Amino acid sequence: MGTSHFAPPYGAPHAEDATPQRRDFMKLLLRSGSVVGLASLAWPFLDAMEPARDTLAAGAPVDVDLSRVASGQQITVLWRGKPVFIVNRPPAALNRLREPQLLARLRDPGSDVRQQPAYADNWHRSIVPEYAVMVGICTHLGCLPGYLPKPNPTTPVNDWLGGYLCPCHGSKYDLAGRVFSGVPAPFNLPVPPYRLLGGNKLRIGENPPGARFDFSSIVQL
Ligand code: FES
Repeated sequence: MGTSHFAPPYGAPHAEDATPQRRDFMKLLLRSGSVVGLASLAWPFLDAMEPARDTLAAGAPVDVDLSRVASGQQITVLWRGKPVFIVNRPPAALNRLREPQLLARLRDPGSDVRQQPAYADNWHRSIVPEYAVMVGICTHLGCLPGYLPKPNPTTPVNDWLGGYLCPCHGSKYDLAGRVFSGVPAPFNLPVPPYRLLGGNKLRIGENPPGARFDFSSIVQL
């Protein structure tokens, strides 16, 4: 399946939107929400984020309470001014990540391009399979992909396998952030440095003990 089944609701981004660094994230959030419908606006957003906003702006690590992310749910938090998706993937979604039907349609199913730390260089692109942690910036031109986790034969595009659909030019990603072939986005969604803490907490912005990963080493944000 190519992009022909997807009718972009917007024209090409304005020139001022050409680099993610220059984008207003809230503008992107609203842009995405207007495409995937009002239900998406009910996504838990920033509600599991513990540090104060001024601390976040300074680039401090962000702690997330995973007990507040129900199975099948996604929350979005800000880390260094970037949206980070945290998804609690149920068993059925994890099983789909290994289905040959899906793998055959991905551009980089084995995560060969360095878009993640070594500890997320696996079939689920995360430390533990259940929780996905990904920077939610499309690797094409930086829009915010919409979370559409359930497979559907016709919606939002034909033969949808569940994952993310970018509203700007129709790039598609699976629930591990792996990009599909035949779409404008060239790379998988980046995985930020993060670690699991005790008490069902997750910290974005720090590697696990002994791991060394510099987010600036990824191929493309
Ligand atoms: S920004 Fe173009 S497809 Fe996502």
